[in-house]
Amino acid sequence: MARHRNTADEPEAGPWPAVPQQSYRDAMSRVGAAVNVVTTDGPGGRAGFTASAVCSVTDTPPTLLVCLNRGSSVSAAFAGNGVLCVNTLAAEHQPLSALFGGRTPMDERFAAADWTEATTGAPVLVGAVASFDCRVVRTAEVGTHAVLFCEVVGLTQGTVHEGLIYFGRRYHKVHAEQASA
Ligand SMILES: Cc1cc2nc3c(=O)[nH]c(=O)nc-3n(C[C@H](O)[C@H](O)[C@H](O)COP(=O)(O)O)c2cc1C
Repeated sequence: MARHRNTADEPEAGPWPAVPQQSYRDAMSRVGAAVNVVTTDGPGGRAGFTASAVCSVTDTPPTLLVCLNRGSSVSAAFAGNGVLCVNTLAAEHQPLSALFGGRTPMDERFAAADWTEATTGAPVLVGAVASFDCRVVRTAEVGTHAVLFCEVVGLTQGTVHEGLIYFGRRYHKVHAEQASA
């Protein structure tokens, strides 16, 4: 716990032995996270992918970060459009998470749900727990991934009470009496 390396600012290898990739993956599997479908549309085309690597950076200005594998099929569309919508999934959306989780043609992914259009043009998932319409204001490349810093320019708060969490390599439903509280 005491040792820390900031690979974004200090790309050279430090004096510490490397952490095995599988050990890191196993430890991260114990960190529960909300499941999101991140979408985009524009000159780069319509695209979307499942992401658990999403978190708030600050509320001033409201900013999220999204980590996107640069080798994924959707990477070019997100780079080309500069806008995206983070749609946080409800429990009923578990099959959608699998569809947007890779290896499914883009039209099939979007055909499996209902969508509206955000101010930025990105698709908004009907029935999401919450949707965050964003413009990408900064991008950092760290290893295999692009970290997209996203200013939130619009919001939709859902009314569903059942959220979806990915923990221990499995999906779990979580219930809140008042989803908006
Ligand atoms: C639960 C879950 C969480 C995921 N989280 C991320 C993530 O945070 N970032 C990411 O780049 N890919 C993540 N993925 C994988 C992408 O959804 C997948 O690579 C993407 O759909 C692109 O696949 P494709 O290249 O076949 O289109 C996740 C997949 C699942 C099932």
